[in-house]
Amino acid sequence: MNNSEAELRAEILAKTRELVTRRLATSIFVPGSTVVPYAGRVYDAEEVAAAVESVLDFWLTLGPEGDAFERELAAKLGVRSSVLTNSGSSANLLAIAALTSHKLGERRLRPGDEVITVAAGFPTTVAPIIQCDLTPVFIDVDPITLGPRVDQLEEAYVPGKTKALIFAHALGNPFDLDAVASFCREKGLWLIEDNCDSLGSTWGGKPTGSFGDLSTQSFYPPHHITMGEGGAVNIVRDPKLRVIVESFRDWGRDCWCPSGKDNTCKRRFEWKLGDLPAGYDHKYIYSHLGWNLKPLDVQAAIGRQQLKKLDRFTAARRANWHRLRTALADLEDRLDFMLPAHATGWSPAGFTWKPGGTPSDPSWFGFMMLVKAGPAARTALARALDAAKIGNRMFFGGNLVRQPAFVHLREERGSAAFRVVSDLAGADRVMNEALFVGTYPGLDEQRIDYVAAVIRNAITGT
Ligand SMILES: Cc1ncc(COP(=O)(O)O)c(C=O)c1O
Repeated sequence: MNNSEAELRAEILAKTRELVTRRLATSIFVPGSTVVPYAGRVYDAEEVAAAVESVLDFWLTLGPEGDAFERELAAKLGVRSSVLTNSGSSANLLAIAALTSHKLGERRLRPGDEVITVAAGFPTTVAPIIQCDLTPVFIDVDPITLGPRVDQLEEAYVPGKTKALIFAHALGNPFDLDAVASFCREKGLWLIEDNCDSLGSTWGGKPTGSFGDLSTQSFYPPHHITMGEGGAVNIVRDPKLRVIVESFRDWGRDCWCPSGKDNTCKRRFEWKLGDLPAGYDHKYIYSHLGWNLKPLDVQAAIGRQQLKKLDRFTAARRANWHRLRTALADLEDRLDFMLPAHATGWSPAGFTWKPGGTPSDPSWFGFMMLVKAGPAARTALARALDAAKIGNRMFFGGNLVRQPAFVHLREERGSAAFRVVSDLAGADRVMNEALFVGTYPGLDEQRIDYVAAVIRNAITGT
């Protein structure tokens, strides 16, 4: 780059920062008229400047920013490596698909093998199981933690048929990783942690997403950090899984050259794979039936700036959750509030833990309440929040088995569609009573107090 080009670039970036800083100048909060979203992107001039810089370079496809973001994310989580993709849903699809690879030999998942999961949650934690010709086995959730009922794992397990488990750390609350990880170890099963809603959460002081074989992230705007659309598969220990995940992400190819590079393996014309002739170009050898699920480099540039803010975002989410919990503490007779997996209770001083239990520290995706009076009262609360311009959400798909997609699947495939263990009473309760509001870092104390006041008014009439 010559001097005049460097000066022009510096000028463009300075103007970009100036524009964004002006745009983000503090807005005045007017209760009842200012919208209080449940989530959203929180950014400053640095994200936009990084995006502009990446566009000026015009690399476009996943490249230097992507490489750097993958390294930085893996280091933050304490995992071996991360593979960026274009969404959390793609990340889950890649994680499940990777386990079907013939490169895993006897440990691979074959059509019809069973994967244990939960019935209450986000649909694309479960859909990839079916999309990869496997069978989901639903156990129930504990409606207070939103985690899997680990006491049902044994009942769900079928020797020789059960091969893997996938659970989400729901709304940022780590599921019982002691029980689940030791079950997987004992039975020799794969574990995928859907960490899409819980970047920054810890279990026993260690980041969630670093316990299973693979874990996944979403970087869609409501999530803990964003790159617009985006996600990642984290490879916790085994580097072989990275090669397989990348292959499924990048058209199913056997070659691992980064975009724009040839012959990284130094044997481009020396491979003999499948029934192809010896020396067939490695760039066009496909060892899997893959997709193209890569994000753009400009998205990674944004993600890198967001990652620098993660600790601050996490602290804000925790503070907002505890402020709401404190403000609503006297409504425990009408609302049930969430607890971490090994917690026995909450007080303004924090959580209390069962003896010998593992303390966890959720980075809350939202503040969930179960409205004990039932579905009509829950919907009334949702309407009251809506009327006050406060963003609110039910817990994603509720009991997924009752969703039209799963009802149709059952009609088409009968008992081969999926297996259900227990009566799923917990998932039904969540479907009927759960509602959550935001904890995201864009909410200040004034907004949080307003949200608490509207909830109180809707629940008690005062
Ligand atoms: C637990 C969980 N997994 C996966 C996803 C999918 O992520 P994405 O929207 O990036 O596809 C979501 C979305 O919010 C989610 O909550």
